[in-house]
Parts: sequence; structure tokens; C-alpha cells
Amino acid sequence: MRFTILTLFPDAFRFMEDYSVLGRATRGGLISLETVDIREFATDRHSTADDYQFGGGPGMVMKPDPVFAAVETALANIPAEERSATPVALTSPQGNYLDQDLVNELAAAPGIIIICGHYAGVDERIRQDLITHEISIGDYVLTGGELAAMVIIDAVSRFVPEVVGSAENVEHDSITSGLLQHPLYTRPAEFRGMAVPEILRSGNHADIERWRRQQSLERTLRLRPDLLDTAPLTNSDRVFLASLGWSGAAD
Ligand code: ADE
Repeated sequence: MRFTILTLFPDAFRFMEDYSVLGRATRGGLISLETVDIREFATDRHSTADDYQFGGGPGMVMKPDPVFAAVETALANIPAEERSATPVALTSPQGNYLDQDLVNELAAAPGIIIICGHYAGVDERIRQDLITHEISIGDYVLTGGELAAMVIIDAVSRFVPEVVGSAENVEHDSITSGLLQHPLYTRPAEFRGMAVPEILRSGNHADIERWRRQQSLERTLRLRPDLLDTAPLTNSDRVFLASLGWSGAAD
């Protein structure tokens, strides 16, 4: 998976290549992170990437010409057969929410070009004619799109085969499985008077699986009942949820 990041602050991404899981994936060639400094595509001698708004108003706007040139160069540098399958994403608080469906869609691409938005926003022609996706990581405004791009890169990389141990690790995730995760415990068996549930130490794998499933269902019902509308539920899941007072639709 190739990530090409168009940014005014390329150095902000250095730590991603070095740390933990993504650092290992970069060194192992499973993912590549290439940063492109948008200012290098500015044509004036001050390398200007922003300008005043037509019509007046506070805040500067990202100019279209350096961004178009940077994206076109990035596309020209990837194999021709991969170009049309490569999303060009803009990070912006106006975009679609990054959720697991969007992460899965992006992870199926050969690579992603991410434009990190800045200032008051981007010239509308970038939206009109350059990008395929506009992505928000939540309803709040960051000082720039770099952190949002890192969130996208991190979430998508986990679905690149072999980046995170085995495929099971990501399939059993909270959210990915459609439900929140069951409680996890490690040693010590008793800590400050709080004991690990006996069933997890019983060695009875069928009982443990049932307990975990029920804990996931209960936690999801309590904290994110909206997920139950789309989670893949078995009949016994539905019976268990009904015993907790869930009134969701039956098959
Ligand atoms: N840039 C500024 N705020 C943002 C947000 N919430 N999501 C994505 N990009 C952003």
C-alpha cells in the first residue's frame, strides 16, 4: 500500500515511518509513505501555497495551482494501471466521516494520495475537479489536515495483509466485527482486589467464547446500541439481547 501525502509540513510524518507497527511495516516494505511538499509546486519565488479569498473574508485559501501540479506529478509517478484505482483524498471537516466501511474501501486500493487541507480551506476547484474523496475524522476543526491524514494512514494500514500480526487480529477488532470488544484481562489474576472472571481461567473454550460474545453484545447495547442495527447477529445473540431488554428487529 502506497501512501502519497501532499502537505505543507512533510516533516510531521517522519515519526510514522519510525514508530511501532507502522515503522515495522514501512521497513518491511508492506507500506510506503511518501511525503510531497506542496510548496515545491508553487511557481512564484516565495513558494506561496495560499492566497486571499475572492469576495473578501477572514482566513487564507489553499491555492489550486500547486495542489493540482502536486497531485498530477504524484499520479504520474505511480504505475499507469493503478492510477484510476488510486483515490485522491482531501482531509477536511466537511468530508464524509472516516468509518470502518470507508477504511475497508481505501484499504482495497493499491495506494492513496492524501491532500492535507490547511488555512480557512481549499480553493473549490480542488474539490470540483481533483479529488475522489473528502474525509473528516470528526466534528471538530483541527489546525491542519496532517493529523487527520495520519489517522487515515494508521487505520487503513491495519488492513494491509501482514501489517498487524494475523488477519484474526483485525477481524476481531471492536467495530470491524460490528460489535464492541469484550473485556480483556492479562496477569495478574488478582489486582488490587479486582479478580479476573473465573470463566476465563476455566480452560473451557466453548464457555469462554459464549461469555465473550455475550459481553460484546451487552457492551454494545449499553454504549453503542446503533451498531446493533447492522451487526451480524445470530438467533442466540438476539435471544440474549432480548433478555437484556433490547427491542431490535428479529429476522
Ligand atoms: N482538517 C481540519 N479539521 C479536520 C477534521 N475534523 N477532519 C479532517 N480534516 C480536518
